[in-house]
Amino acid sequence: MSGDGELLERARSWVAPYWNALHLYRALDWLFLLAPQADLVLRLATLTHDMERHFPGPDSPVMDARRGIPDRSYEAQHQERSARIVAAWLEEQGAEPTLVRAVRDLVAVHEWGGWPEADLLQAADSLSFLEVNVDRFIAFGLSGERGFTPELVARHFRYMAERIRLPRARELARPLLAAALARLEERTGRAVEATVVARERSCDG
Ligand SMILES: [Fe+2]
Repeated sequence: MSGDGELLERARSWVAPYWNALHLYRALDWLFLLAPQADLVLRLATLTHDMERHFPGPDSPVMDARRGIPDRSYEAQHQERSARIVAAWLEEQGAEPTLVRAVRDLVAVHEWGGWPEADLLQAADSLSFLEVNVDRFIAFGLSGERGFTPELVARHFRYMAERIRLPRARELARPLLAAALARLEERTGRAVEATVVARERSCDG
């Protein structure tokens, strides 16, 4: 088996053709900021965590905001399918079985976290999402794709910030969330907050 650095470099090349590789690269950057000493397992998991989306198939899950924000059923299927695909790739690379299992276990919980390393991966993913994926979700809100409305996109942005379990990362997410909500409001041409408040009031009344 080759050195740690070489396997990480091979993973960088593997994810490069994925349409949202930037999100994965930025997640790895955030991981370096949050945990400069993160080990190879955590680095590999962070760099590859969404790769199932690069290999669409009949079992690809589809997010549907009408099921709720978050869409837990989508999250469960997405992280499990990614874990499978990443583990298979690592096996092809000749990685040690213990490393394959450890990366697989992290990718399989990347939406939810659960222990220190998993919480770091989930935080790095969330920060990168709020940085890189905002315009794509605003477009869903405008088109109605995947059941989104502008209000549901706002809820999704808030969820991505509030789900972070590490206090330091939550602080880092705060300005990113504010910028994402401001951009949503600007792009949808209406005050999302005001609309939500008005609807809640009319429901109360
Ligand atoms: Fe992600």
